[in-house]
Amino acid sequence: MNPPVSRRVFLLGAAGAAALTVTGCRNGDTRAAFSTVGTLDFANPLGIPPLAASMTAADGTRVFQLTAEAGSSRFLPDRTTPTWGYNGTFLGPTLRARRGEKVRVTVVNALEESTTVHWHGMHLPAVFDGGPHQIINPGAVWTPEWTVDQPEATLWYHPHPHGQTEAQMTRGLAGMFILDGDEPVQGLPFEYGVDDVPVIVQDRTFGDDGSFRPGPPAQTGLLGDTVLVNGTCNPHLAVTTEAVRLRLLNAATARIFNIGFADNRGFHVVGGDGGLLAAPVAVGRLLLSPGERAEIVVRFTPGEQPVLRSFPHELGMSREFNDGAGGNDVLDLLQFRAADKLAGSPQLPERLADLEPVDPKMSAATRSFILKGMYINGRMMDMSRIDATVGAGTVEIWMVSNIDNQPHSFHVHGVQFRILELNGADPGPEFSGWKDTVFLPVGTSARIALKFGRHTDPETAYMYHCHLVRHADQGMMGQFIVVQPQ
Ligand code: C2O
Ligand code: CU
Ligand code: CU
Repeated sequence: MNPPVSRRVFLLGAAGAAALTVTGCRNGDTRAAFSTVGTLDFANPLGIPPLAASMTAADGTRVFQLTAEAGSSRFLPDRTTPTWGYNGTFLGPTLRARRGEKVRVTVVNALEESTTVHWHGMHLPAVFDGGPHQIINPGAVWTPEWTVDQPEATLWYHPHPHGQTEAQMTRGLAGMFILDGDEPVQGLPFEYGVDDVPVIVQDRTFGDDGSFRPGPPAQTGLLGDTVLVNGTCNPHLAVTTEAVRLRLLNAATARIFNIGFADNRGFHVVGGDGGLLAAPVAVGRLLLSPGERAEIVVRFTPGEQPVLRSFPHELGMSREFNDGAGGNDVLDLLQFRAADKLAGSPQLPERLADLEPVDPKMSAATRSFILKGMYINGRMMDMSRIDATVGAGTVEIWMVSNIDNQPHSFHVHGVQFRILELNGADPGPEFSGWKDTVFLPVGTSARIALKFGRHTDPETAYMYHCHLVRHADQGMMGQFIVVQPQ
């Protein structure tokens, strides 16, 4: 566990987060750490992304509509910001479907440039994955459809055009996609926006004119000085129940959040990227790198106002570079305002889900992925090259090693995996469930067991890549196809 607060962190002056100037800055990678503690009053009610409307087609398919569009948003009291969103001006609605349901999404591109929409964490045919190959031109419509065939989970969607993903996500394109099981799990809060709340965490820097600023050129990508949660800056959430489930999504493009509470209270992790854990895990901190999700349950007492905070954490670099990559920043994320009377919430169940075991001895292949520079195994992304061919329904062991001088976050499309080992050791119970993204600080490695699905397509690839999005844009990505095993 990391120490709660680093002694290297200093407090901002009264200028506040939005007007922050970074001192001691030599270049983007050696900027000084900073803290927003004491600079926020949490005046704004947390925005809750609306649940997407859907209609049922004659064959029972649930049909959603998403339009990617440009607009402007008001994050700051006195300035507006040019932004992009789905069905609105920033982020998008929460899509929600049940296991076994057939879904179709009518995606309309009302932007002036090409985009794609990727369903991060979803098991679906490669042609509907929304990676760099499924380009939607301006004015065009794309209608992927698939049958939901995986456990209940908090997934998300975002653009993925090669080389343009960081820019499009930074403007605001992203949303949550919740999958439900047959029945809600007894004892887990389940009322959307009330005691089951999406918490989409991002960081940005605002210019004087209100526009998003790219920030100093940094190897890791954009590190902002202002946190937006669900597109709200300086937010609070009114709490009306004793327990609240937070569906945390790190939708930042580069920043790693080390989630905890300012008062160091504990909380329970109940789910990871690909679904619920077998049992709740009590923790005080939880690392969430770009692309990762976690579901946590927090308990409150009447009248209190605890603050969700991101704490310093180790990136495996020298102090100077840890500062430069944001590892020593302290960022207040969200204040909770508990009512004077809270509705009772049940205790968490002892068991949450039956996690299908993955037997590494059943592995059909073992592969190694070395991350260094913007390369994976010495190669940059080439959209016409297939890097791996895997058999549908098989288990593979992938050894992913970060021998670079900066952190990376390794994500695989169309599949979920289990982390067998992080640096040769057990990853810890909070990371014991299904994952699609694993965080790799400098000098670390992960041994993961992937259970590939049944969709085959020798013509269309899925991606694996670093989810520090600037790295993926720069070529830190590869392609695999899933075929019928011989
Ligand atoms: Cu969030 Cu290629 O993915
Ligand atoms: Cu993905
Ligand atoms: Cu990376």
